[in-house]
Amino acid sequence: MKQQAIWIMAGLAAAATGGAGAAPVNYVLPEEKARLTDSPLPGYALATTLCYTCHSVDYVKVQPVSARTYWKATVVKMQKTFGAPIPDEAVEPLTDYLVKTYGSERAKPAIPLPPGKG
Ligand code: HEC
Repeated sequence: MKQQAIWIMAGLAAAATGGAGAAPVNYVLPEEKARLTDSPLPGYALATTLCYTCHSVDYVKVQPVSARTYWKATVVKMQKTFGAPIPDEAVEPLTDYLVKTYGSERAKPAIPLPPGKG
């Protein structure tokens, strides 16, 4: 029993001093797997150069189906609020690609989805 208490004390002491001489922590990020959906729209090429730098494009893919206004506001938010280097003239083509690929203007599925699933 006494032996066990000593080990606990030693553990606490190690934890307490750990902060002072902390070694740098290296992270190996997992390989990015998410990809934007191919498209002949000019915004696709822009998105592949402008939207992969800060975060996964899963952010784009998991958004609810939304209108053009939402996608435009999102692109402008990336540009103005988060400082993404998106030229002003790229905002419209990016919005167009996003709304037609992930938003309310995307092609309807050939087979209608059951009610409530579309
Ligand atoms: C300069 C870095 C940067 C770039 C480049 C960038 N984003 Fe973002 N994005 C952010 C940040 C920061 C957030 C929000 C923070 C978070 O939740 O992790 C975000 C969040 C999002 C979201 C989640 C919804 C929301 O409004 O927060 C979407 C969708 C998105 N970005 C789309 C895009 C698209 C499309 C592009 C390319 C046009 C893009 N991002 C480029 C920084 C960036």
